[in-house]
Amino acid sequence: MIVIGSDHAAADLRHIVMKYLEEKQLPYIDCGTDESPSDYPVIAKAACAKIQSGEAVRGILLCGTGIGMILAANKMKGIRAAVCSEPYSARFTRLHNDANVLCMGARVVGSGLAAEILDAFLFTDFEGGRHQRRVDMITAIEEGNAAF
Ligand code: RB5
Repeated sequence: MIVIGSDHAAADLRHIVMKYLEEKQLPYIDCGTDESPSDYPVIAKAACAKIQSGEAVRGILLCGTGIGMILAANKMKGIRAAVCSEPYSARFTRLHNDANVLCMGARVVGSGLAAEILDAFLFTDFEGGRHQRRVDMITAIEEGNAAF
């Protein structure tokens, strides 16, 4: 399950992404919003809570730049959010960081580029191995027990 959310600045892109997910037959939970104005931290918190609860395994968060969403999302335990504006970073944040949330800026990427970024993010598996150790180190920082 994928969870998706946007603020008002990215509502149009969110609807485009939901259509993309439907075409790929990937089930999703829509955390909104079509309200304007709206506050991106509210949406980020609601969407990331779905990952924390296990209802969703990946998240897609959209705002004007993607930056507000990534800042809010990464404050939540267990969330590894990456903001991407090209497919290379989207691919490698899955391979190396096991990122579970993709953030994009609707004022940064167009719908065609967003689809390529989604292809890279959603269809790339984490490599594990030496990268698992580093992801574990991120978790240790989060939990306040980093021994480095
Ligand atoms: C809304 O105007 C804008 O600030 C928001 O979408 C986002 O880009 C913040 O980081």
